[in-house]
Amino acid sequence: MTRRAAILGTGSALPRRRVSNAELAETVDTSDEWIVERTGIHFRHIAGEGETTSTLATAACRSALDAAGMDSSAIDLIILATATPDQTFPASATRVQTALGIDDCVAFDVQAVCSGFLYALSVAESMIRAGSATNALVIGSETFSRILDWEDRGTCVLFGDGAGAVVLGADESGRGVLSTRLHADGRHNELLYVDGGPSTTGTVGKLRMKGREVFRHAVVNLANVMREAVEGAGLAMSDVDWVVPHQANARILDATARKLGLPAERVVMTVDQHANTSAASVPLALDTAVRDGRIARGDVIVLEAMGGGFTWGASVVRF
Ligand code: UT7
Repeated sequence: MTRRAAILGTGSALPRRRVSNAELAETVDTSDEWIVERTGIHFRHIAGEGETTSTLATAACRSALDAAGMDSSAIDLIILATATPDQTFPASATRVQTALGIDDCVAFDVQAVCSGFLYALSVAESMIRAGSATNALVIGSETFSRILDWEDRGTCVLFGDGAGAVVLGADESGRGVLSTRLHADGRHNELLYVDGGPSTTGTVGKLRMKGREVFRHAVVNLANVMREAVEGAGLAMSDVDWVVPHQANARILDATARKLGLPAERVVMTVDQHANTSAASVPLALDTAVRDGRIARGDVIVLEAMGGGFTWGASVVRF
């Protein structure tokens, strides 16, 4: 029997405050019409007082553990993907650990911006397959609202806050992660970055993006990496039941699906409700489609994302 890492449960959490495009247009020079036409976004959630990356992550983990029917004491690994940690250090994963009442386990953060969840999933999956972990919480959680320039209409309307998590456990039933492909190309740092940091300006900084160029790279890179991952699993695109993409822009999702000949109704789309939640977007979309019954046990799903760096990746999972 092959030991794989299977998704035993999913969960997510959103800040209480939901903000419409119309509400944003009261303070930013934009319109509901522009945002919907260019991005497909209608709403985003924005963290309020007391809501942080680790509190959202903890809530997402609680719901994933519940779905898996597992007590937090069974967890021996926590990997939190985020570009907006509560503090520069310690890792927000250790705050989640404490909030869940886990006295001892491996806990650390992974930083690959919007691809962070794919990177975290790959590390956790490798550790489980190697036998150095048994049950992991893999989380994507972000509070991008706190690194946005609210005077830059080209970026501030695109992002939202939230968290998603999965319980990943050793399994020999044939389910689990079948293949993963990850990439990074640092030559494109300047197309999507934050203009601050502890070792440069000593400040947190604000997000900057050349949206049109990121868009162009995203469609090509995502289509290629999905093909690589599906081939790596020994499958064909026609075997894929669901694509769960990073939710940056409805037009990127449509263009990528068209490039691969995938029917649009097989692509999970939540960008309309959540906007771009960076590392949280894939597990948030996954949890949404599991809970509404679209994704069922045994389905072949492809998770994919691309973000700052650039970093990008895809993972094929028998759910
Ligand atoms: O998660 C990481 C990956 N990120 C992405 O994948 C984002 C990829 N990029 C995109 O999604 C799109 O490029 C955007 C949604 C960011 C922008 O769409 P676009 O069709 O590429 O528009 P643009 O940036 O070329 O701007 C078109 C026009 C400009 O006006 P002019 O110069 O043509 O007069 C902008 O100033 O739209 C204007 N504009 C806006 N107008 C109203 C830009 N932002 C806004 C806004 N409201 N919020």
